Amino acid sequence: MKPGHSLRQLLLGWLLPSLVILLVVGAIAAYLITLSAATQAYDRALLDEALAIAKQVRIENGRAVLNLPPIAHQVLLTDKFDHIYYLVQGPNGEFIAGHKGLPLPEKSPVEENWVYYDGFYYGERVRIAALFVPSEAGQVLVLMAETLVKRERLIWEILLGMLVPEILLVMATIWLVWFGVKRGLAPIERLRKEIASRSRHDLRPVPENTAPAEVQPMIKALNTLLQKLDGALDAQQRFISDAAHQLRTPLAALQTQVDLALHQKNDGDLRLTLQRLFAATERTVHLANQLLTLARAEPAGHLPGEMQPVDLSQTVQECAQEWVPRALAKNIDLGFELESVQIVGIPLLIRELLANLLDNAIRYTPAGGRITVRTMVKEKKAALEVEDNGPGIAASDADAVFERFYRIKGSPGDGCGLGLAIVKEIARTHNATVELKTPPSGQGTLVRVNFALTT
Ligand SMILES: Nc1ncnc2c1ncn2[C@@H]1O[C@H](COP(=O)(O)OP(=O)(O)OP(=O)(O)O)[C@@H](O)[C@H]1O
Ligand SMILES: [Mg+2]
Repeated sequence: MKPGHSLRQLLLGWLLPSLVILLVVGAIAAYLITLSAATQAYDRALLDEALAIAKQVRIENGRAVLNLPPIAHQVLLTDKFDHIYYLVQGPNGEFIAGHKGLPLPEKSPVEENWVYYDGFYYGERVRIAALFVPSEAGQVLVLMAETLVKRERLIWEILLGMLVPEILLVMATIWLVWFGVKRGLAPIERLRKEIASRSRHDLRPVPENTAPAEVQPMIKALNTLLQKLDGALDAQQRFISDAAHQLRTPLAALQTQVDLALHQKNDGDLRLTLQRLFAATERTVHLANQLLTLARAEPAGHLPGEMQPVDLSQTVQECAQEWVPRALAKNIDLGFELESVQIVGIPLLIRELLANLLDNAIRYTPAGGRITVRTMVKEKKAALEVEDNGPGIAASDADAVFERFYRIKGSPGDGCGLGLAIVKEIARTHNATVELKTPPSGQGTLVRVNFALTT
């Protein structure tokens, strides 16, 4: 269906030509049938008249003569519509009576002793019945001819009688299509009005059951989209309120510290305040960054087109440089066991996911510990693992640590509790799963993210 073509145009476009073809074929068939029926009936009447004339033929002195009383002559030759002609010819072709020059039959009858044919007489088409009458003087030929006026009239009458209802039928079909489509599409129009009248905040699902069955899948799809949009708006709203709520306190603290610094005269105190100010700024920057990363990690914030083939091991290698110095500073042995695995994903987010897992591992593993990053194919999935031999996460906290702003009580450092929430969101965006385990050694934390493998 071309864009912009109405359903009505389409339906009529299919229906009308077929109906017109049907009408024309029907008319031709009707014409042929009526023509043959009318011809047979009138031919029979013509033959009857020829027989009537034949009865008046007598043989006198070995010659055929026609004894037609004037009254009979008049009756035979009078017709309301047509000109009637006749001709009686003797056995040797001699003219006996009637109209000279009437076309003679080209062939003799095979079974009966009569034959019908068409011809011209005085410039008009005529139908002729030729009757061969045997007599003692030989075979007498009686021709009876008439013009075609009443035959044609009859055909037209029958044809019109058939065509008028057929034309009415076509018109009724057009009317039905026109108004039927309008009626059929009325629920869609109601739907359009309902959607058009909504405010941009009204993302309730559109009622499905009032729509025709053909339109319901479209409404289902629309409702799914509305639901996703609603989810995205919710997430956005939650982000804004989280951000406002979480940033307010550190920003107020910053302001207080700056205020304090402005009023401090003593260089030593000022330096101390500035150091605290620096630390507070760092925390605030970290919080803002984590909040923005979380917002970016939401599945609703991405178009399918952003996904691209990624080699997990390569992404890990690219990030490793950043993390080695931090691990070294804490005397942590950071090791890599990388197997090339292909996935489809958003490289920036995968780096962000890895950064949060490594940040946790380095932050929470005591000095002298060990961290291993692995990429491998495991159970037909592309797995990314970060394992440490730190304090581990208690089973009772295993779910909660993935919640926003949740930190285990007494955790060291200035984290804001968003790292694992970001990991979970990024995994969700990639349709990946996150597992939290205790490493085989029985101590520490092992986080595994399972992506779909591409070959
Ligand atoms: N590798 C780990 N070992 C031990 N505990 C961990 C580990 N990773 C996370 N945790 C615990 O889970 C909590 C939640 O971690 P998450 O990364 O979400 O937040 P955070 O590290 O406190 O803050 P952020 O990452 O936003 O700076 C942490 O407070 C910490 O107690
Ligand atoms: Mg963290």
